Amino acid sequence: MSDAKLDLNGEQYELPITVGSEGEVGIDISALRNQSGAITYDPGYGNTGSCASSITFIDGEKGILRYRGYPIEVLAESCRFTEVIYLLINGELPTETQYRGFRESLTRHSLIHEDMKKFFEGYAITAHPMAILSSMISVLSSYYPEGQDEAARELNIIRLLAKAKTIAAFSYKKSIGQPFVYPNNSLSYCENFLHMMFAVPAEAYEVPEVLDDALNLLLVLHADHEQNCSTSTVRMVGSSDANIFASISAGINALWGPLHGGANQKVIEMLERIRQDGSDYKKYVDMAKDKDSDFRLMGFGHRVYKNFDPRARLLKKSADKVLAQLGVTDPLLEIAKNLEEVALEDDYFVERKLYPNVDFYSGIIYRAMGIPTNMFTVMFALGRLPGWVAHWMEMRDDPKGKIHRPRQIYTGETERAFVPIESR
Ligand code: SDX
Repeated sequence: MSDAKLDLNGEQYELPITVGSEGEVGIDISALRNQSGAITYDPGYGNTGSCASSITFIDGEKGILRYRGYPIEVLAESCRFTEVIYLLINGELPTETQYRGFRESLTRHSLIHEDMKKFFEGYAITAHPMAILSSMISVLSSYYPEGQDEAARELNIIRLLAKAKTIAAFSYKKSIGQPFVYPNNSLSYCENFLHMMFAVPAEAYEVPEVLDDALNLLLVLHADHEQNCSTSTVRMVGSSDANIFASISAGINALWGPLHGGANQKVIEMLERIRQDGSDYKKYVDMAKDKDSDFRLMGFGHRVYKNFDPRARLLKKSADKVLAQLGVTDPLLEIAKNLEEVALEDDYFVERKLYPNVDFYSGIIYRAMGIPTNMFTVMFALGRLPGWVAHWMEMRDDPKGKIHRPRQIYTGETERAFVPIESR
């Protein structure tokens, strides 16, 4: 494809074109400022490619999501989360031998250092689990300093993947005043997490298969999503050569925002508000359309998906199945379905191509599983962890990689004379 041509201030510049494996076209502007003195301007990076990546492909118009070329629908149906972790990080699905060794490594590193338990004594009982998760992941760097070779980096990545679920479960036990339940090496990743969450010392607890399968699906569906806000944050922080724990801790904090991963908690709070208001969902659809109202339909809309979010479609189906298997009826599910139905026939949402996103139904399932609302974004973070790690590695292994440092268009004061305070 021939270069792009830019006419600027009477000069013409030729900009190289890069084409991705799915045919996306990118205009390479890396030399633009040196050639023309101008930069591009794209607040929120909606039209800017920050990198080339081979990890995840999304086609927002067609509702396509693939990890390393495999459609999300196939992975959700056929894979355990640990298999997807291996795929995202290594680029290929594991052989049986590779998979056995990988799972064994994750199991063997699930414990956190006994001294780390002392941090939990300092958190307020009301501490948000995302605050605990991001700080404890950062603290891991003080127990496992960054190694200088590939084996040391790989071991710290295994430690991170294995210990995050333990820290998450411990933060829940702390919030309900129950003793920590340690990891059990005879359990799978999902069973182990659920066991640490819901087992109590006084009685045996066997993880119900329906919970194990539901959690597995949720984690697989959240595992990666190309250059979203938190993943771009991990890449940005990692580009300064910050260690993996510090980079991931930054990603956790970015995910916490209600416009991003924090939306799953906000969706349930919104549905609960509508339920308490007589389930008058049409009133809230109108409020979401009213520019004078600050109300947004949480769990709706997406920067990339301008058609359905394939994850929302799978989660909507799973919500019906999980609630039926658990014998749970949740009025919030009916309100969610009614909201979706009304919104998808309303011009405001249709014109803006606003559809349910991954956060719209996930909270209904977490709720039915007995996971508290303030843990929902932690669950999103546990799912997204392998994606963050895969992108951090891809960025760090890029031979042309450099520290991320965007430019700006300055709109402040031009130079002016200083006036001493006594004369102001
Ligand atoms: C995630 O990027 C990723 O991939 C993220 C994610 C992942 O897996 O990592 O998919 C996970 O973060 C999903 C999104 C979760 N957030 C929410 O559900 C919060 C509610 N949604 C919105 O705030 C919004 O849709 C965003 C933040 C998701 C996207 O925002 P954009 O792309 O910046 O779009 P915008 O805010 O510019 O909205 C465009 C128009 C505006 O109206 P106009 O100015 O054109 O009149 O759509 C309106 C917005 O007011 N709009 C909404 C709306 N979302 C957008 N109006 C009502 N309710 C909404 N939810």
